[in-house]
Amino acid sequence: MADHVLAIDQGTTSTRAIVFDATATIVGVAQREHEQIFPRAGWVEHDPVEIWTSTEWVISACLSRAGIEASDIAAVGVTNQRETAIVWDRRTGRPVHNAIVWQDTRTQPRLDEIAAADGAGTFRFAEETGLPLATYFSASKIAWILDHVPGARAAAARGDLLFGTPDTWVVWNLTGGARGGIHVTDVTNASRTLLMDLVTLDWSDDLLEVWGIPRAMMPQVRSSSEVVGTSQLPDVLHGVPIAGILGDQQAAAFGQAAFHAGESKNTYGTGNFLLVNTGTDIVRSDSGLITTVAYRREGEAAHYALEGSIAVTGSLVQWLRDNLGIIQRSEDVETLAATVDDNGGAYFVPAFSGLFAPYWRPDARGALVGLTRYVNKAHIARAALESTAFQTRDVIDAVVADTGRALDELRVDGGMTRDDLLMQFQADILGIPVVRPKVVETTALGAAYAAGLATGVWGDLDELRAHWREDVRFEPRMPDDERERRYRMWRKAVSKSLDWVD
Ligand code: G3P
Repeated sequence: MADHVLAIDQGTTSTRAIVFDATATIVGVAQREHEQIFPRAGWVEHDPVEIWTSTEWVISACLSRAGIEASDIAAVGVTNQRETAIVWDRRTGRPVHNAIVWQDTRTQPRLDEIAAADGAGTFRFAEETGLPLATYFSASKIAWILDHVPGARAAAARGDLLFGTPDTWVVWNLTGGARGGIHVTDVTNASRTLLMDLVTLDWSDDLLEVWGIPRAMMPQVRSSSEVVGTSQLPDVLHGVPIAGILGDQQAAAFGQAAFHAGESKNTYGTGNFLLVNTGTDIVRSDSGLITTVAYRREGEAAHYALEGSIAVTGSLVQWLRDNLGIIQRSEDVETLAATVDDNGGAYFVPAFSGLFAPYWRPDARGALVGLTRYVNKAHIARAALESTAFQTRDVIDAVVADTGRALDELRVDGGMTRDDLLMQFQADILGIPVVRPKVVETTALGAAYAAGLATGVWGDLDELRAHWREDVRFEPRMPDDERERRYRMWRKAVSKSLDWVD
């Protein structure tokens, strides 16, 4: 019987396929990394063809490992790294340029011009979109491709080019590609482009005009949980409905059952992303958070969220591995950090893409401060881990300032949450319990939930909530004065990173 749901998670460093049974238990997983391309300082690209090839591979590998066939699968849910921009030719299916990844900062000069245009500054479009003008979001990346790929602007004007974030690219290819692929996205992904109006939940003609982006390039905006098309992938997935699309952070919130106002989650991935559901109200931040769509079910009002986006957390561990070589494997960072009792006075601000929330300072640069002859690589590993917890404190303080309410606890998920040392330090530096659920694969789970809800595998949100189980609760143990002393030192380190302007 078709009561399994397949989730495809097209992330920043890898693509994964995970199949869940009707009890939301994982029965098969496959994962493949793709190349991170750094053509210049500040530029980050992916090859969309490699991403699609990996997607096909993980789907087949996952289903064969689980011993599952297309006829066992009720629906597919797609989740993805958000904001990353792909532009391709609708007739050939070939990308006209590599994907420009969300971390890429090449478009800052253009953003500065647009911010200066009528003196309105960085928050010029914040009322309409919930977002500051930042390289993070898709609009300036699409405009860069149209401006720099020879012939692209004319081809876009003729209607030959399509734009999509990775969800759109995957769904278009899954549903037939150049032979009739469906060109769609969902409201959560659309809300990250700087081109969608938060009230109408559709592309804004005014914003498209600001960036010179023809509307014909843009995918149709659908809800997060509805059948948008049928997979045409031969054999393994042929004929299965695609019934859920959510940006990965919104998917993680859905997978953590943060369905209603006041419910939140913090995901520890390449970066960290804290989402607080604000229900059907659009809440504007005065403290450096962004306003985004949390999810929308077909025929219902959208739920919104405040988000604290942090660009670099897990990717700092990769940097310690790949650029400094002080660890062999990412998971070794905890062991190395645990060989010392504290950071030895060192603080590490990983502002590799500038600083996102709550600072929004593209000109900030990484800073490692407080060094003495005493500091060794274990202290640096520890300072790197601690930077994740301190950055999370920055965004949680912003949430408290905006909502006027302290959080009772923090629900966490994502790869880095397996690190007990980090989770304990997180609880210590926040002064509230940190709660890790049994299933930390909440991103894939959220996409599966959205697809399974739309196709009757699950009946309602309460049924999904009943799947959630607490695994470990980390209680804060650090004395208040010590917590505040360390956080004060962190803020000093941040001020050094903000000062580092050419
Ligand atoms: O906004 C960027 C975010 O969606 C990336 O998530 O997990 O791929 O690093 P992740």
